[in-house]
Amino acid sequence: MTPPAAGFGTRIVSTGSFVPEKVVTNFDLAEIMDTSDEWIQKRTGIRQRHISDQSKGEGTVSLAINAAVDAFEKSGLAPEDIDLIICATCTQEMTCPSVACRISERLGTKKAAAFDLAAACSGFLYGLNFAETLIRCGRYRTALIVGADAMSTVMDYTDRSVSILFGDASGSVVVTRDDDPARGCQYQLMGADGVGWEALYMPRREVDIPEHDRDNPIKLGMLRMNGREVFKFAVKKFQEVIEETMEQSGHSIDDLSLMICHQSNLRIIESAREKLGIEEGKVYVNIDRVGNSSAGSIGLCLDELNRAGRINEGDLVLFVAFGGGMTWASSLWRV
Ligand code: ACO
Repeated sequence: MTPPAAGFGTRIVSTGSFVPEKVVTNFDLAEIMDTSDEWIQKRTGIRQRHISDQSKGEGTVSLAINAAVDAFEKSGLAPEDIDLIICATCTQEMTCPSVACRISERLGTKKAAAFDLAAACSGFLYGLNFAETLIRCGRYRTALIVGADAMSTVMDYTDRSVSILFGDASGSVVVTRDDDPARGCQYQLMGADGVGWEALYMPRREVDIPEHDRDNPIKLGMLRMNGREVFKFAVKKFQEVIEETMEQSGHSIDDLSLMICHQSNLRIIESAREKLGIEEGKVYVNIDRVGNSSAGSIGLCLDELNRAGRINEGDLVLFVAFGGGMTWASSLWRV
């Protein structure tokens, strides 16, 4: 991967997000499972999460559409200006049509390419990186990238080791071509190691369940996680990915204006921050309010920061994520 050369640059036009109204606190969870607010806060930093009201038909499609409409309306663009829609999700209600096509229907984009992308919590950055590359090379002018996961729809609320972590949310961004080639993504990194898939999976059929998990009470369609394995992987990977991105881009940690990382667990984020000596105020955290919303998390953080006026032209912003697969990604932007 080489740094951006002469040609087109890219810029963020607008951002959007959505969280469902319904809030589930740690105390609410303690009423239905053997856990406590103290345990959850200490191990994860989470106080509450938002979840979809499935009785009202809420889920991934409504999360995705709400975030998409938010960014689209703020962009001031017309439907025909959008060339590409990517929706990152691992909780599609229907695999056909894609969630991206439902967004297309709602926005009235008649010609934009639209597809879903599955890279779990890394999905939003995979989508952002692919779209940025296609715009930079001149193939497309403007893309809408959405990350949306209704994790509550794949939670077994009798499994306390998994269900306390996740919440539902979505985030979105409109990215377009810029005449300044120095603007936009400075360096991007994406990777996967399928050997680790058994640490985080959603079995649809009995045969999907790995041998070592067959004796455990596993519900089909629900997320199964080996928390300790994922934790070890994440702590190591976050640090490696950040170090490689900064080194390859020719920037130092001190050059960063902000780091926006996937909200997996406060301890994972803090471990990377402390090891790399990143100032506390430069690392955004909202996991206490929303939990881990998988592909929704990074776009939601970006939009919250944007709305708070904390993303300014010329800032150097590092995005970093890891997720099921196992997958990982980074994207370093001069915004
Ligand atoms: N409440 C109370 N006790 C609990 C709970 C709970 N909710 N869950 C587990 N415990 C107990 C365990 O049974 C265990 O008890 P024991 O010692 O008597 O056996 C003890 O607490 C410790 O369990 P661990 O699993 O070792 O706890 P750990 O400190 O690892 O924390 C956690 C668990 C929070 C899940 C952590 O491992 C973690 O965050 N892992 C990373 C998960 C993650 O980031 N996943 C997202 C991946 S992104 C994606 O793509 C979806």
